Amino acid sequence: MGRPFCFGGTDTMALRHFLRLSDLQADEARRLVDRAIALKTSLKAEQRPLLGRCLAMIFAKSSTRTRVSFEVGMAKLGGHALMLATAQTQLGREEPLSDTAKVLSRMCDAIMIRNDSQADQEELALHSRVPVINGLSELHHPCQLLADVQTWFEHRGDPRGKVAAWIGDGNNVCNSWIEAAKLFGFTLRAATPHQYRPIAEVLKFAGKSVELLDDPQQAAAGADLIVTDTWTSMGQEAERAERMQILAPFQVDRKLMSKAAKNAIFMHCLPAHRGEEVTAEVIDGPQSVVFDEAENRLWAQMALLEFLLVP
Ligand code: CP
Ligand code: NVA
Repeated sequence: MGRPFCFGGTDTMALRHFLRLSDLQADEARRLVDRAIALKTSLKAEQRPLLGRCLAMIFAKSSTRTRVSFEVGMAKLGGHALMLATAQTQLGREEPLSDTAKVLSRMCDAIMIRNDSQADQEELALHSRVPVINGLSELHHPCQLLADVQTWFEHRGDPRGKVAAWIGDGNNVCNSWIEAAKLFGFTLRAATPHQYRPIAEVLKFAGKSVELLDDPQQAAAGADLIVTDTWTSMGQEAERAERMQILAPFQVDRKLMSKAAKNAIFMHCLPAHRGEEVTAEVIDGPQSVVFDEAENRLWAQMALLEFLLVP
């Protein structure tokens, strides 16, 4: 499977780690220093459109991809990202979001927030003078969809007119897939238990672009893409046992993948739980593009930051 637009990684190089300086040979260490000096003097300002700009990243929930992709993306664009774990800020001691928005707006150029309240994100945005980016709420995960749609384009061309099948929990990522269906002109068949349907607001937004189904097999039939996510999102840990039971018939396995189009791809925003929402055979198999999705968080969000911050 080609990955023409993904620049990260060095598939043809032997795997190397940098866990200590002595992991490098002496000549390699010298070359690295030379290269650092060359970059410092030759990198042009216009190639670093966010030079001197700062992104505040508020995290009330765990993250690997979102944190790393924003932080690395800001660095690549010439800017800087600040990690603000809620509990270690005054937000954790009940300073109002409105005051926090005003303070961060005076010092930072954008704010990214991950928490469990879309309403609070909206409140933050209302009082912010700088762009606020949703890095995941209980209702949406829009950055994930920029990366996922990019990945679909890269592997199979324009998704317009195609069919994606969401299998499992009608959660935050599902809601954003539904909005993507409308925006990019594909159909999203969502097969979820009736207890875990996507929210009415996105169904209304998407109109005929979304179809709600009970049966995963029916959703997967002939689909160009199969996508799922964890059965227990962050904050739902107390419901885990019940969710495992209700969602068990929605596992993406080889049999379900065989119902899809022959060249269908499999997506998952990660982190994944092999043996629960997806079998190892599928997520680690040839139809899976999950690590391209993960990498594309970086490129998609760099484009987003430029879009939001560079006139
Ligand atoms: N997909 C995603 O948002 O991953 P993280 O929770 O690691 O940020
Ligand atoms: N639905 C998951 C997505 C994690 C990236 C959650 O909210 O925990």
